[in-house]
Amino acid sequence: MTGYELTRQARLTRARHWLRRILGPWGVFIQGFVQHPRMVASIIPSSRYTIARMLAPVDWQACRLFVEYGPGVGTFCGPVLERLRRDGTLIVIDTNPLFIDYLKRTIRDSRFIAVHGSAEEVEAIIRAHGHEHADYILSGLPFSNLPEAVGERILAATARALRPGGAFMTYQFSRVARDLTAQFFSKVDDGFEWRNVLPCRLAWGWKDKD
Ligand SMILES: C[S@@+](CC[C@H](N)C(=O)[O-])C[C@H]1O[C@@H](n2cnc3c(N)ncnc32)[C@H](O)[C@@H]1O
Repeated sequence: MTGYELTRQARLTRARHWLRRILGPWGVFIQGFVQHPRMVASIIPSSRYTIARMLAPVDWQACRLFVEYGPGVGTFCGPVLERLRRDGTLIVIDTNPLFIDYLKRTIRDSRFIAVHGSAEEVEAIIRAHGHEHADYILSGLPFSNLPEAVGERILAATARALRPGGAFMTYQFSRVARDLTAQFFSKVDDGFEWRNVLPCRLAWGWKDKD
């Protein structure tokens, strides 16, 4: 590498750090979007209205393990940790190492575990952390952009990973997540949130208590 290229690279790295500092989580989110636009699928994190609506049906007293797929820069993590029992656990799973690295650096809470991996591996991931089942699984995954077989594998693994009476919760601009949920859960509650960029469909799939 020539001296000129080194200086150029150093300037680029400095500019990237400066942007991250100025923009905070937004800078990291935009960087993740630029690197993997189809996997991130949105340029703006979920609104506080979406967060409050999605979490409203959770029975926090009964929740020992909460799992989140696709946390991005952690828009939901703070609100989940605020509501979670003191002896509860939040495991988040994301395929983007940039987001996992950011979450590990910024969320200092002994109940929080960030895992670099795919939602398809949820069963092995929760087992590796000492749990049989999750009580709730929240997903921010862009199901419309995932290959069909991947979406179905994630739903099948999710249905197995949840405890009876637990819920799989999705928010998405399209119907894909909701329709996939209906294939694996007999009871699905629907919602819609306008105050989000873009407005999104909300769905809660409940696992039979049997
Ligand atoms: C729309 S962003 C979610 C943003 C965030 N949850 C929010 O509410 O603002 C989608 C996230 O899903 C992640 N992702 C995509 N495919 C995944 C997979 N198979 N397993 C886990 N995470 C995945 C992306 O890296 C990205 O962080």
